[in-house]
Parts: sequence; C-alpha cells; structure tokens
Amino acid sequence: MLNIALPKGRLGEKVYAMFARAGFPCPSILEENRKLVFENREKGVRYFWVKPSDVAVYVERGAADVGVAGKDILLEHAPDVYELLDLKTGRCRMAVAAPRDFREDMRRKLRVATKFDRIAGEYYASLGRDIDIIHLNGSIELAPLLGLSDVIVDIVETGTTLRENGLAVVAEILPISARLITNKASFEFCREEIEAIRRGLETQTEDKA
Ligand code: PRP
Repeated sequence: MLNIALPKGRLGEKVYAMFARAGFPCPSILEENRKLVFENREKGVRYFWVKPSDVAVYVERGAADVGVAGKDILLEHAPDVYELLDLKTGRCRMAVAAPRDFREDMRRKLRVATKFDRIAGEYYASLGRDIDIIHLNGSIELAPLLGLSDVIVDIVETGTTLRENGLAVVAEILPISARLITNKASFEFCREEIEAIRRGLETQTEDKA
C-alpha cells in the first residue's frame, strides 16, 4: 500500500482529482465526514489529508511515500525528498508587497514581515539589502497596516487580499506551484508504483504552459 499525503483544502481536492484521473481513485475520500485516512486496497493506495505545510514532514520521514507540496514550502524548509513533477496547479507568486504610498528609505534596515524567513532572507541577501525579519504565522498583510513592518513577503494568488488592504506588489520573487514529492527510500523500494503515479499525473500537465 502506497501512502500518499495530500494538502487539506481547495488545492488538495484539485490534486486528488488528478490522482483519480491518473488511475488511482478512492471514492470514499469525497464523502462528507471528518475522517483523515482513506484507502483503495485494489489500487494499492492510502490517502491522508494533512496541513499543507506538514506534507513535506510526512514525506521526509517516510510516514508518507509520496505527497504534494507547494514549491514555497519546499524552498522554505528544504526537506530531504525528491521532487518528481511540477503539477502546474496551485499556481501563485511569492512577492514583496507594501502600502501603495510606500517609499523605501535605503539608509534604514527594511522591516520585512513574513512566514517565509528563508525565502525572504535569501532574496534580500541577493540584493545586498539589510533587513530585519519579523516572523508571523498568518494574516501577514496586517503588519504594514499597523506599522509592524515596512513590507511583507508573501504568497499572492488573485491579489484580492492585497488590494482589499491597500497594498500592492513591489517586486516578484518567484512563481510557485504544487509539486509531487517522494520519500527517498520509498523511491528506491517502490519505484514502479511511484513512477506509475508520476506518469499518470504528468500526462495531465502536458497541455499546461
Ligand atoms: C494566502 C496568502 C495571502 C492570500 C493571497 O493566505 O498568505 O494572504 O492567501 O491570496 P489572494 O492573492 O488570492 O488574495 P492563506 O489563505 O494561506 O492564509 P494566511 O493568512 O494564514 O497566510
């Protein structure tokens, strides 16, 4: 039985539909309940829903053989896993945003609020800009509104959250999308099964730019 960690939420539902079309359905997963584990013995798959930012932890430690995680999480936490495929879904951008009237004072350290300390740190290091990172766990957009930070580094999908809070993108850092990842030992021992999943998913990404 192959253990597959899916990110709970909207992205997870889209991704499960891709696994089902790839030939690994598990209809009980669509039932309305609070169960977290679902299996299809005949197809040899067991799915479980985990918090999106935890998928890589399950896969790295082998509790899941494969999983789907955002490139943002993979860059931020650098888990020791193989990245097998860009699923070309769950697309968004990692960006710097600030209040619309923001003017940067280069004589001062820039105060950056973010969940993504490493990504923000590496981005500003590449620019040679001194920053002070303020780590937050959510609702990052609040920080510049309350004077806690000058800018934020966060995920922008539709841009609605920024717009509705009077913020705008100042710089794009990198594009993000969902990735199929695998535990390194699982990939050695269950390569055929994992490759079958990868191929079934890959055909669904081919028409996407
Ligand atoms: C993410 C991100 C932004 C929002 C962007 O938040 O942190 O707040 O989505 O989406 P938009 O551009 O379509 O408005 P998430 O829902 O993950 O919650 P968070 O506040 O915990 O970061």
